[in-house]
Amino acid sequence: MSVQSDFELDDTGKIDLSGIYDRPDPHDYYQTLATLDYRVPAAAEPVLRAVIAAERAERKRRELTVLDIGCSYGVNAAILKHGCDLADLTAFYSARTTASLPRRELLSRDRDFFTKRLSDPDLRVVGLDTAENAVAYACAAGVMDAGIVADLEVQPPAEPEAELITDIDLAISTGAIGYVGAPTFAHILDHAGRAPWFALFALRMFPINAIADVLKDAGYEVFRLTGQTFRQRRFASRKEASEVLANLAQLGIDPAGRESEGWYHAEFYFARPASETVTPPIARLVRI
Ligand SMILES: C[S@@+](CC[C@H](N)C(=O)[O-])C[C@H]1O[C@@H](n2cnc3c(N)ncnc32)[C@H](O)[C@@H]1O
Repeated sequence: MSVQSDFELDDTGKIDLSGIYDRPDPHDYYQTLATLDYRVPAAAEPVLRAVIAAERAERKRRELTVLDIGCSYGVNAAILKHGCDLADLTAFYSARTTASLPRRELLSRDRDFFTKRLSDPDLRVVGLDTAENAVAYACAAGVMDAGIVADLEVQPPAEPEAELITDIDLAISTGAIGYVGAPTFAHILDHAGRAPWFALFALRMFPINAIADVLKDAGYEVFRLTGQTFRQRRFASRKEASEVLANLAQLGIDPAGRESEGWYHAEFYFARPASETVTPPIARLVRI
């Protein structure tokens, strides 16, 4: 698969993908990320399913509300609630289908598809993202149940959004930590009524210490999965690779066998209130 190399780098050394995050429909998002072999939502799926099953068993409740932090067009909801896979979604939004359909018709096609295809109807997914068009599309298409358009890095949620946070049982995130950090998590904890669990994938070049501190201060135990990392996507260019390798060197992280092979790698973190002693059956979760 060809990899584009004409992206600008942002302040963190990653390519700037902001141009595809907030388009009127998901076409550019899925197609551009496919050229980069983006795959972290697929890699995350079995882990997130294990966490959902563990929380259902622990809290003896089948209905769970998930907050997807940095949800974009609802990719994690499409996978976890509607049973899609990333390849299905990429094909679903291929140039052949999306280019020929006006947005209204595309939305109607998607709504028909997603409302009928419910692999886990007891999972309610609320998405949080700064990208207004992406959240609006995912909600209108029936991919997500509700959406919050807000930047909790800079301000607390307004009243209606804060209410949506009250009911969450689990917060998840793929591909968004780095854009979101400790302030977002502090605001979520301030408004969450049910002490949600957290299941988070973060690139190795974005240490989650500050987020973990916020969680620990709120009475959580935080765990890191050791011995396994998750490919997020390929580097878009030599320039991006060398920026990332330089970032990792500064952090004292050895890229051998991971980023040195041309891929971003994410780690998995899990957190739950210290009062609940269970951990999901995911090998080698170590308290940090
Ligand atoms: C690489 S995408 C990941 C999307 C999706 N979770 C996935 O794995 O495909 C990063 C997302 O983070 C969102 N984002 C950037 N800054 C944010 C912020 N301050 N709060 C919430 N989301 C943010 C972007 O709009 C984008 O949708």
